Amino acid sequence: MAGKLTFTMIKPRAVKDNHIGEILKMINEAGFVIKAMKFTKLSVDQASAFYVVHQGKPFYEKLVEFMSSGPIVAALLEKENAVEDFRQLIGATNPENAAEGTVRKLYATSMTENAVHGSDSDENAMIEADFFFSKTERF
Ligand code: CMP
Repeated sequence: MAGKLTFTMIKPRAVKDNHIGEILKMINEAGFVIKAMKFTKLSVDQASAFYVVHQGKPFYEKLVEFMSSGPIVAALLEKENAVEDFRQLIGATNPENAAEGTVRKLYATSMTENAVHGSDSDENAMIEADFFFSKTERF
């Protein structure tokens, strides 16, 4: 059975380009409820750890450098079928392949700077949420 929670980050370039409000509006209008949220900046070590599953891939170092280059918004979101529905909302990882009207089609500038992160499974949503939020930070 699909879970009700997913995790997202609004990435540094979308924050820098002042798209936090528009992206959160799209998330709310798609029916997601914000259960936890944080405006923060990842250190190189934290970004390396968050994306450790990609360690060794050709894009890993660039991704870590970018994700630690400026503030991000991290959020835990609730909705039925959360992981899949959120991936539909944000569109393909590569913005060139993202469907019209998706977050990445509207706000991503490249594969690395692709506006938002979205969990790829219920299990990873929990791992990613635990990375950012304690029990007292979830509502
Ligand atoms: P995200 O959803 O944050 O999860 C992992 C990130 O790695 C992904 O978004 C992209 O930003 C990046 N990524 C994945 N595949 C590639 C790739 N082939 N080239 C460059 N970056 C990639």
